[in-house]
Amino acid sequence: MSSRNAIGVFDSGLGGLSAVKEFLHVLPNEKIIYFGDTGRVPYGNRSRDTIKKYAFQDTSFLLENNVKMVVAACGTVSSVAGDDLEKKLSVPYTGVVNPTAFTAAHKTKNGKIGIIGTAATIGSHSYKLRLEKLNPKFKVYEQACPLFVPLVESGIICRDDQIVRLVVRRYLSELKDEGIDTLILGCTHYPLLRDAIFDFMGENVTLVDSGYETAVYAAKILKEQNLLNDDCAQKNPEFYVSDTPDGFESVAGLFLGRDMEHRVTQIDIEQY
Ligand code: DGL
Repeated sequence: MSSRNAIGVFDSGLGGLSAVKEFLHVLPNEKIIYFGDTGRVPYGNRSRDTIKKYAFQDTSFLLENNVKMVVAACGTVSSVAGDDLEKKLSVPYTGVVNPTAFTAAHKTKNGKIGIIGTAATIGSHSYKLRLEKLNPKFKVYEQACPLFVPLVESGIICRDDQIVRLVVRRYLSELKDEGIDTLILGCTHYPLLRDAIFDFMGENVTLVDSGYETAVYAAKILKEQNLLNDDCAQKNPEFYVSDTPDGFESVAGLFLGRDMEHRVTQIDIEQY
């Protein structure tokens, strides 16, 4: 099951498959090993210590599979445990915060940037701190959107849905009133609400998707370190979860943007 050539991607659950979708597109010659902690999701409202403990268990599982790089697709993990992971891992690591903040910093014209994420991500101020380091003159506006995750997981994502429109308005009104021109979608689930967010914010606000930016950044790191595959003979992705995979195809397919064609294996994450 293991492959020294694989990129290990993990998330608190299935949301990270929205990043895998981008990885498969940006890095078509790479093999992905994905772990989704479906037995312990959500992470976004847990304590820092718990999120860190889970993040290290998740990465231990990936490292046991000899991955050449670890990617935290989860906004929450990247925000709370990213620095610790980067220091301690023996292979290249990236979370979503740095690449996404970097792109937002280059896209903004008026220097007013919004960031939306889980309560833990917003509470960590990870994006704000990173953006202000890139340019102390930036004005950064943060907003936690805790109802977005359950909405997406219930499949309620349509731009015309009344509930979606109401919740989007409720969370994003202040950011809109502040006149931001760039908005970071700082959570795995938010790309699925992209259309509704676009409708509300308008075409003058650039939406920055953490999954895509992270895939592009991972490609850059692998290239710099001479770790890119020219081609990988066995590049079918492998998917692992910590709860039963029965009946999860529809949610997984939502994030992946296509049917789950590959077998999913359940593991005991508590043993790591
Ligand atoms: N994957 C999480 C994130 O991107 C969202 C779901 C959760 O709260 O665990 O922050």
